[in-house]
Amino acid sequence: MLQGTPGRRVSEFYDHHPISEAGVLAALARRGRGLPEGPTVDDLFEFDQDHYGGLAAVDALASRAGVGAQSRVLDVCAGLGGPARFLSRRRGSKVVALELHAGRALGATRLNRLVGETRVAVVRGDATRLPFGSGAFDVCLSQEALLHIADKPAVLRECHRVLAPGGRLAFTDWVARPGLGDRERERLWEWMAATTLQTLESYRVLIGRAGFNAIDAEDLSEEWRPILRRRLAMYRALRVDTVARLGEQRYEEYDQLYAFFVGLVEDGKLGGGRFSASG
Ligand SMILES: C[S@@+](CC[C@H](N)C(=O)[O-])C[C@H]1O[C@@H](n2cnc3c(N)ncnc32)[C@H](O)[C@@H]1O
Repeated sequence: MLQGTPGRRVSEFYDHHPISEAGVLAALARRGRGLPEGPTVDDLFEFDQDHYGGLAAVDALASRAGVGAQSRVLDVCAGLGGPARFLSRRRGSKVVALELHAGRALGATRLNRLVGETRVAVVRGDATRLPFGSGAFDVCLSQEALLHIADKPAVLRECHRVLAPGGRLAFTDWVARPGLGDRERERLWEWMAATTLQTLESYRVLIGRAGFNAIDAEDLSEEWRPILRRRLAMYRALRVDTVARLGEQRYEEYDQLYAFFVGLVEDGKLGGGRFSASG
């Protein structure tokens, strides 16, 4: 069980997460794409995306937000920078990757350097207090991250503030569905640092209150079910590598908590939403 204060709890969760910079480098080495030859951005994509649905999910979000070569994009809670590098590579955009966790921000910076990515800037910071001026971006994106942030209205207000007039917001996140009980919510908080989970409709209200209009909310729950089943299988396939890096106990703990999470999705108590709106 995670122990610390709210910010510390998120940090602890990602300190001991199977997806990490070290994991990406180990996977590249296994594929024979490690140093000294030097991997390409494309070589990283199989390993550096920490959300559901891989590159197709980033692309779907980018399409909802109209991301193009001229877009100034902010990836809120960017992890190891995988989605940001994908947008830079495929859409030609300049992207700022905002990430709170020190190890992940450093990992994103080092992976950028490893593959010669120059259009993605990594900034360490908190999504509830974005360290950018008003109107600095055309697009704010985020994937599977607001679930960790108690004050979702603050993140949405901050995204609205940093967007230029008419800018676009697009994000995916967990959504609570009928039947998700208090004890299950508590466990998701204790084990995965997930908090104040919204429904599709309550998210729509929060987005509107933050000043956005033309809000679209898509239910991804059905789409996510097979994706999450495969993700659990993927973590299990990484057993040897995860035990080597994080130890047997952490592997077993993570397996238990992830199976619990995927079980909630299978039971229809937890799902996903994709939201897009104009600033
Ligand atoms: C599931 S990962 C998603 C990473 C990335 N969006 C991706 O799809 O690969 C969630 C990320 O949110 C970050 N995060 C959590 N709370 C944050 C906050 N308040 N501000 C910025 N980043 C945060 C975590 O450190 C973690 O890297």
